[in-house]
Amino acid sequence: MIRYASTNDKAESELQRKYMEKAAVYVTKLQESLGRSPKCCVVTFGCQMNARDSEKLLGILTQIGYESVENEEDADFVIYNTCTVRDNANQRVYGRLGFLHSLKDKKPHMRIALCGCMMQENEVIEKIKKSYRFVNLIFGTHNLFRFAQLLVTMFENQEMIIDIWQETDQIVEELPVKRRYPYKSGVNIMFGCNNFCSYCIVPYVRGRERSRDPKEIVREIEDLAADGVVEVMLLGQNVNSYGGNLDHPISFAQLLREVEQIDGIRRIRFMTSHPKDLSDELIEVMKQSDKICRHLHLPLQAGSDRILKAMNRRYTKEQYLALADKIRNAMPDIALTTDIIVGFPGETLADVDETIDVVRRVRFDNAFTFQYSRRTGTPAAAMADQVPESVVREGFDRLLKAVQDTARERAALWQGQVMDALVEEVNEQDDSLMTGRLTNNMLVHFPADRTKIGQIVPVSLDTCHGFYYTGHIPSQKDG
Ligand code: 5AD
Ligand code: SF4
Repeated sequence: MIRYASTNDKAESELQRKYMEKAAVYVTKLQESLGRSPKCCVVTFGCQMNARDSEKLLGILTQIGYESVENEEDADFVIYNTCTVRDNANQRVYGRLGFLHSLKDKKPHMRIALCGCMMQENEVIEKIKKSYRFVNLIFGTHNLFRFAQLLVTMFENQEMIIDIWQETDQIVEELPVKRRYPYKSGVNIMFGCNNFCSYCIVPYVRGRERSRDPKEIVREIEDLAADGVVEVMLLGQNVNSYGGNLDHPISFAQLLREVEQIDGIRRIRFMTSHPKDLSDELIEVMKQSDKICRHLHLPLQAGSDRILKAMNRRYTKEQYLALADKIRNAMPDIALTTDIIVGFPGETLADVDETIDVVRRVRFDNAFTFQYSRRTGTPAAAMADQVPESVVREGFDRLLKAVQDTARERAALWQGQVMDALVEEVNEQDDSLMTGRLTNNMLVHFPADRTKIGQIVPVSLDTCHGFYYTGHIPSQKDG
C-alpha cells in the first residue's frame, strides 16, 4: 500500500527519490550482512498530524527495503516521532530512550532517529547531545521531506547527524506514504499555526500557517479514493483559517464543498477548529452534507473570561456558548467534543467552576482534559501565579467528574437506534466482534466477519456502556 501523494514541489521530490535509490543500496548491504530483511519501527507520540508524518516516514523506509515491525525490540532501526505539547510527552521519550540504549548495547548495528516537535527545541537538542550520545540522527518538523537524504547521510557517517530548520516555505507531498489503514487516511491541508495561544508551543515548533493549494488536496484525495479510501480526515492546527494566505484565497467551507464532490469518499472529518474562526458558512455546509461527519472538535480551553483573555484565545465564555448553541440548533445530532486545560497561571477554583458551567451547558459528548504544562519560551511560562499542584489537581478532579457526567448522558441518547458504522478492525478483546465508528465518532462493537472491514454498514445500537456501544447488524426482517 505505498502511494505517491500530490505535490507542489516536484524538483524536491525528484531529488528525494534519487536519495531513496541511494539509501536502498545501503539497506541491501545491511540485509546481506544480517542474512534477513532489516526491520524498522516508527513510534508516534502526539497528534494526528504526527501520525500522518509517521506514515510518510514509513512510506520511505518500506520503499528502500525495511520491513515494518510494531516493537522496538524487533527493530534494527527505531524512529521516535515526538510531541512537545505537554511535558509528560517529553518525559516519555526520555524514558524510552533509556530503554533503547540497553537494546543498542546488545545490538550494536541498531540505529536510532528522533524527529518531530520536541526536536525543534534547543534545550532538547543540547540534552540529547550531552546525555544520549547513542542517537544516530535528529531532524525536525520542517525538513521531514528530506528524510531520504538524511538517511543517506546517516549511513555514510558514524557521528550523530543533527539537522534542524527554523522555518520552511516548502510543501513537499509527492513522496511515498504507507497508510496504517487501507480505508481511511489523514490529509494535510495546512501546516503551522499563527494563533499564539499563550500556553502553546505549537507556533514555535511548527512555524507559521501555510495552506496547501486546494487543487493539490483534491488530487491527493481523488488518488486515495481510487486506492480504496472511503474516509478522509482533513488535518491542520486551525482548519477554520484555511486558505487565507493562498494566491487565490478560498475558505475552509469552500474546500469542504470541493472534497464532497469526490466520488468514492463517503465520510469527511476534520481537525482542529478554533472557535474564533468558525463561520456560519461552515455550519451551513456541514448541515447540508451527507458526507461530513456529525462531529465537531471545538477546543474550549477555559470558561473564565479572565483566563481566556490571558490565554489569548480571542473569544469570551458567552461567545463560545452562543456558537455551541448555533451548531447544536443547526445539527441536533452533532457530537461536540473539546479540549480543556486546568491550572493555567492565575486560575482559581472559581475560574474552574466557570469552565464546569460551560461543560454543563454545552453538554459535551467528550472532552480531553489536561493539566497545564509550563512550556519554555511561551508567554504563559513567564507569568506570575503559577498554580500549585494541589490546586490544579482539585480543579482537575472536579472538572473530570462534570465531563464524565455529560459525556455519559450524551452517549446514551442513541440507544436503540440504527446508525451507519465504518467497520474499522477486529475487536481487540474478542475476535468474533468487529469495531465500527459512527459518524459522531463513537465506537460500536458487534458480531460480523472481517470481510466487512472498510465497509459502512448499518448497526443497531443495543446497549450503551458509558462511552461505547455493543450492537448487531439488523437482518432484513428486523428492519
Ligand atoms: N499545557 C496543557 N495543555 C496544553 N495544550 C496545549 N498546550 C498545552 C499546555 N502548555 C492542550 C490544548 C490543546 C491540546 C492539543 O493540548 O488543550 O487544544
Ligand atoms: Fe496551539 Fe492555539 Fe495554535 Fe491550537 S490554536 S496549535 S492551542 S496556538
